[in-house]
Amino acid sequence: MSLRRVQVTDFRCLHSAAFELDPRFTLISGANASGKTSLLEAIYVLGRGRSFRTRRLEHLIRRGSDRFVVFGEVDSFERRVSLGVEGSAAGVRAKLGGDKVKSLAELAPWLPVQIIDPEIHRLIEEGPSRRRRFLDWGVFHVEPRFVEDWQRFQQALKQRNAALKARLPRAVTAAWDADFVRYGECMSAARARYVELLMAHAVTSARNLLGMELSVGYRSGWPRDSSLAEALQHSWSSDQESGATQVGPHRAELSIRLNGLGVKDRISRGQQKLLAAALLMAQVKLFPADSVIKPTLLLDDPAAELDNERLTTLISEVSAQTTQLVVTTLHPEFSEFGAPGLQYRIVGGDIRTA
Ligand SMILES: Nc1ncnc2c1ncn2[C@@H]1O[C@H](COP(=O)(O)OP(=O)(O)OP(=O)(O)O)[C@@H](O)[C@H]1O
Ligand SMILES: [Mg+2]
Repeated sequence: MSLRRVQVTDFRCLHSAAFELDPRFTLISGANASGKTSLLEAIYVLGRGRSFRTRRLEHLIRRGSDRFVVFGEVDSFERRVSLGVEGSAAGVRAKLGGDKVKSLAELAPWLPVQIIDPEIHRLIEEGPSRRRRFLDWGVFHVEPRFVEDWQRFQQALKQRNAALKARLPRAVTAAWDADFVRYGECMSAARARYVELLMAHAVTSARNLLGMELSVGYRSGWPRDSSLAEALQHSWSSDQESGATQVGPHRAELSIRLNGLGVKDRISRGQQKLLAAALLMAQVKLFPADSVIKPTLLLDDPAAELDNERLTTLISEVSAQTTQLVVTTLHPEFSEFGAPGLQYRIVGGDIRTA
């Protein structure tokens, strides 16, 4: 299963761009500000319903336009499935096979897309919500029913927080506790299982890329020695005081250590990038090689930030995987991944066959 065709309208600087993708390797070259990252971002939005660069939808819409549309076709067994995402002032709407879908998550199984871009160090550097998103995307692709637990948990959390904020009596707030605990525990158990799986691959990638020993643990978001129900009971007064639920999987975190030490503020920017790449590569490796679902891996200008040795290691890590690769580069002669199946040149937002 791979993404075979993309059509982008009024997305960032791309007015109207349509192109085919190779099932294995597509290379897109272009000068600075030609639209390379925008093109990858459009593909990412198609699979994830959100950008990796911004949370502000209006930034994705081409200046002067009122909506963007990204349309894609995925080869699946004997048929092609179409995916569509439209962004406007009304929000993001998605279609699958021409029919509107209720949740953007419905597109995700058709296009598991991952990106390694110059900003990946943010996965390490920024707050825990980025790492929770990273984790949840991975869990979903290993355990598809996770999304339902996640949605039900979010619903319970939202209602519970609204009741806390409105200072409603405890009995009203507690009406949401059963769902909060039930789905929160399911979610948390799935995440913990996933971290175990991820570790096995991430350790090897970190050794290859960083030459360091990585360990990753899952912190559930409530004290280890109590159940979620107990933790919720104990946190009632602080919940009430702050007007928000203080414990639960929405407060979960990954604890990441290299050579036994925490990484926060301890490693260089370059090491943060390599560590993030090791974690992202581990997610890609978790897709079974014999699965019909192949992740689409987007590499945004990989030569720009890594030294030659690291780049070579990253390339060998990536090449060992059965992924669909879409790579951007400033230099059309970029040949580290071998000969591309399809190659394009992008100039001022226009994509042409190279
Ligand atoms: N909403 C928008 N409408 C129109 N143009 C936009 C919008 N958002 C960004 N741009 C412009 O799109 C252009 C291309 O940006 P993009 O980040 O895709 O370039 P790039 O080819 O990746 O460049 P670099 O090699 O520097 O990373 C930039 O000039 C940017 O200002
Ligand atoms: Mg760019």
